Amino acid sequence: MLIQLTYASRCAHALGPADVKDILAASQRNNARLGVTGALCLNHGIFLQQLEGDRMVVNALYHQILRDPRHRDTVILDLSEITHRQFTGWSMGLLPSLDTNRQLFLKYSVGSEFDPYSMSTVSLRSFFSEVLQNVRWLE
Ligand SMILES: Cc1cc2nc3c(=O)[nH]c(=O)nc-3n(C[C@H](O)[C@H](O)[C@H](O)COP(=O)(O)O)c2cc1C
Repeated sequence: MLIQLTYASRCAHALGPADVKDILAASQRNNARLGVTGALCLNHGIFLQQLEGDRMVVNALYHQILRDPRHRDTVILDLSEITHRQFTGWSMGLLPSLDTNRQLFLKYSVGSEFDPYSMSTVSLRSFFSEVLQNVRWLE
């Protein structure tokens, strides 16, 4: 059964480009093999990730990600059964916090900073669907 899991977490310490590159490399290495697609955002020290795939596989991957010492305060924000994937083209796309994306982040923010912890599931779903349509993805 296909599900979508969305969670937020905080960087445990200041992460450099090498850390992010390492996370993406692991994602691209493992997720394609696992049949997991999704997107990862990093903004002001907060990760927001959406994982899509088989229920058992996504759960196992989430537990593996939970144990990663590079982040903490992990909270599941949305977990739902889906009929189809949104992210068919990427094993894991990264949306960095570039100036061009700031408006998109703020559009769905309750306060002046992007804060996924305070977003409703409806806002989160709209955010990810807009990410998919409007944002230039980087390798
Ligand atoms: C915010 C965050 C998101 C991550 N997302 C993924 C992911 O989607 N897939 C993945 O395999 N690893 C992901 N990782 C890395 C895993 O925690 C772990 O380091 C990696 O799966 C180990 O892969 P390996 O056994 O191939 O070395 C993520 C780590 C962090 C901190």
